[in-house]
Amino acid sequence: MNVVIFSSKLLKQQSGVLRVAYVQANNYSTEDKVYNLANLKRGTGGRSSFNGIVATVFGATGFIGRYVVNRLGKIGTQIIIPYRGDNYEPFRMKVMGDLGQIYFHPYHLKDEESILKCMKYSNVVINLVGRDFETKNFKFNDVHVEGARMLARCAKKSGVERFIHLSALNASDPPVSAGILKGGSKFLASKAKGEEAVLKEFPEATIIRPADVYGQEDRFLRYYAHAWRRQTTYVPLWNKGEQTEKQPVWVGDVAAGIINAVKDADTAGKVYQAVGAKRYLLSELVDYFYRVMRKDDEWGYKRYDMRWDPLFQMKVSLTELISINFPLANLHWEKIEREHVSDQVQHDVPTLEDLGVALTPMEQQVPWELKPWTYAIYRGQDPDEPFAPAAPPKTVAV
Ligand SMILES: NC(=O)c1ccc[n+]([C@@H]2O[C@H](COP(=O)([O-])OP(=O)(O)OC[C@H]3O[C@@H](n4cnc5c(N)ncnc54)[C@H](OP(=O)(O)O)[C@@H]3O)[C@@H](O)[C@H]2O)c1
Repeated sequence: MNVVIFSSKLLKQQSGVLRVAYVQANNYSTEDKVYNLANLKRGTGGRSSFNGIVATVFGATGFIGRYVVNRLGKIGTQIIIPYRGDNYEPFRMKVMGDLGQIYFHPYHLKDEESILKCMKYSNVVINLVGRDFETKNFKFNDVHVEGARMLARCAKKSGVERFIHLSALNASDPPVSAGILKGGSKFLASKAKGEEAVLKEFPEATIIRPADVYGQEDRFLRYYAHAWRRQTTYVPLWNKGEQTEKQPVWVGDVAAGIINAVKDADTAGKVYQAVGAKRYLLSELVDYFYRVMRKDDEWGYKRYDMRWDPLFQMKVSLTELISINFPLANLHWEKIEREHVSDQVQHDVPTLEDLGVALTPMEQQVPWELKPWTYAIYRGQDPDEPFAPAAPPKTVAV
């Protein structure tokens, strides 16, 4: 030990190369102390380098999580993925980063010790934990309020520098109601309380409020494409969807916004709205999705008012009853309420564009996303004469 101290002192007195050697040797300290990870940056910035960010991504196994981890991995981030349940499920994400850059750790949302372990060496924590419906073990309050509070508190305790929290557009308590559920969406109310809880524990947190997010394995396009959401070929929407305005956003844009927020320290303590570039009536959007899937009038497509269909209403209640912990086709009253709430975009709150994201137009992405649902996709198609693209949906003036 004395020899090490002596040689360190000697190195310290030297200049030039020896001084660099001293500083670098210090990086490999075995002390259990947090030090500036940015000093350990290595390489030119790609997948095989280290960008100085060690990020714990809670909720990485969900829809948005996969896109976030993929993008973090591409820029040389070291990632910790906390998971619950079967460990083989998240392991497929290992290839999203370079060898040895993605680690996994089991945790429970109510167990502080396991959460602290997941963030012990991190300088960034991203909270993507959320659920569209209540389960037997976790109510909205447990996941969106107490869960978020716990993660923010642990992050503060661990000395984490950046905390990014995913909330939801229209989050307010009491929530704006579409008039379907008494008292409005409990999801939206809990998301508003969750924001408050996070800011109380971690005032410099960055909050991102996404509108309906679409992409591979989403719960927006696939929800409307699902046969269980229809009555044969008829699609029921509250007021025919003609009184609901939506501004959906592509998942890749949301992930890009999260990554930009991680990289930009100026986003600390700010709220961002993750909304798409254009605003549409829900009726226009659903008509467009069915046009894209080539399920047109000839196929039997018709949109009608859900209010006058007690059979569909019974179907929603029954679906809730028989598939409590994972509603079949994501069909439940909470979702029906939320899908009919018009998006409230506040003009004084920054958006993804302020995070430097060039928004993807729906017409560019949706046909590819819905391709597997296209009716008779290969039947009667002449390869030299491809089908004309579906006419885009009409927008609503903002
Ligand atoms: N997708 C959207 O359209 C949308 C819109 C607005 C806001 N958001 C919000 O954005 C965030 C990410 O959305 P997402 O679409 O990726 O959600 P998601 O696909 O439902 O994934 C949610 C993640 O949260 C985890 N989770 C849920 N309940 C948990 C619990 N009790 N304990 C531990 N982990 C739990 C899930 O883990 P398991 O895999 O173990 O279940 C999963 O990793 C959520 O907060 C969501 O509310 C999403």
